[in-house]
Amino acid sequence: TRSDHTTIDNHQYPKDEWTNVPPNILSLLPRRLHLERDHPIRITRELIESRFPGYKYHNTLSPIVSVHQNFDSLGFPPDHPGRSRTDTYYLNKFTVLRTHTSAHQADVFHSNASSGYLISADVYRRDAIDRSHYPVFHQMEGAQTWDRLSLPANTTLAEQVWQDVESLPKHDIKVLDPNPTVHPSRNPLQTPHHSLEEVEAIATHLKRSLENVVVEIFTQARRAAAASGDADALKEAPLQVRWVEAYFPFTSPSWELEVFWQGDWLEVLGCGVVKQELLINADVPSRLGWAFGIGLERIAMLLFSIPDIRLFWSQDARFLSQFSSAREIGRFVPFSKHPACYKDVAFWLSGSSSSGSAAGATATKAAFHENDVMELVRDVAGDNVEDVRLIDEFTHPKTGRRSMCYRVNYRSLEKTLTNEEANEMHEKLRQKLVETLGVELR
Ligand code: PHE
Repeated sequence: TRSDHTTIDNHQYPKDEWTNVPPNILSLLPRRLHLERDHPIRITRELIESRFPGYKYHNTLSPIVSVHQNFDSLGFPPDHPGRSRTDTYYLNKFTVLRTHTSAHQADVFHSNASSGYLISADVYRRDAIDRSHYPVFHQMEGAQTWDRLSLPANTTLAEQVWQDVESLPKHDIKVLDPNPTVHPSRNPLQTPHHSLEEVEAIATHLKRSLENVVVEIFTQARRAAAASGDADALKEAPLQVRWVEAYFPFTSPSWELEVFWQGDWLEVLGCGVVKQELLINADVPSRLGWAFGIGLERIAMLLFSIPDIRLFWSQDARFLSQFSSAREIGRFVPFSKHPACYKDVAFWLSGSSSSGSAAGATATKAAFHENDVMELVRDVAGDNVEDVRLIDEFTHPKTGRRSMCYRVNYRSLEKTLTNEEANEMHEKLRQKLVETLGVELR
């Protein structure tokens, strides 16, 4: 039944023209896979946590945050596409389901006397449907700061950070790092807040800490692959990682860390030196330091060789019984793969074809966005869809109308879908497309 409020845990959130969280997403809020005993997401979290002794762990922060926490406090510009209702779940104009764990940076910096922290949490994004994307996933955020006002006598901050670098574990993997620490336009030094010496020390501490995480993860992933008799895993060259310049609104300089894995460079995390405005606004202006964010599903998928992200949400014992924090990490053994069932849907978009929307700056009737199709697919078929792909698109030369054709791959992880079941879901989808998006079926 419709009402003018969304109720979550006895709290009421008034709905408005921004509200776009569907019931199937709300039903996932209590799951918190990173806290579930013997769940691969939890095992992955604990593996990474083990590389950060002495850090404070925050694992139960609410996913409901303000637009201020999720975007404004981090310096996202007003027209940033991440703010758009096509990308982000809004409870209303002022309240969202967090899109990243960085939403808590300002609060944790503000409240936390300790120098290092980790935040693990469920995060929410409207996105495509395929085997590596799901609208709810899990991230871990980490940060380390040093306080200019509480340094040992006769020690500069840079000296203190270099000492801390010395006490980090050493590794022997190959690191490609062509990046100068700062780049004047793309990755500038935060003058007047930081000196180059300080940033070089902090960047080294950041990079070494995260390289150690990657060494731990990939050593385990290889051991698991080798233990299951994967000959390729045994033949692989020594582990290689590389640092790539990146951009985030709340760090500078910023990087991504990539790992060479099964023939490709794989992006594993984003990080950087925390923007000083954030620490100043959090009432800790004398602290400076680094932060990173890492997606737990992607790491868990390669640790355990899990082929489809939907599996994490499965309550099927054939999935869950394969993981235990008491055992060594081992490869997931797929239970039988059920047949795929492809169905296409083609339609004309209604109205004008032009002008990409102003990224959610105003709440006017939005132009067509693919994520709205994805949402309808999830609504009618839940986890029975493996992926959705745009297979054809054209604009009629005379009328200027745009036509789209999507291919929906119906495949359950747990059973064989009959053609009737797939047809029924597909028919519902066709109706919803007309009702909700106002398209004309072809
Ligand atoms: N929040 C960023 C993301 O979701 C990752 C990040 C965290 C980058 C902390 C820098 C520092 O992509």
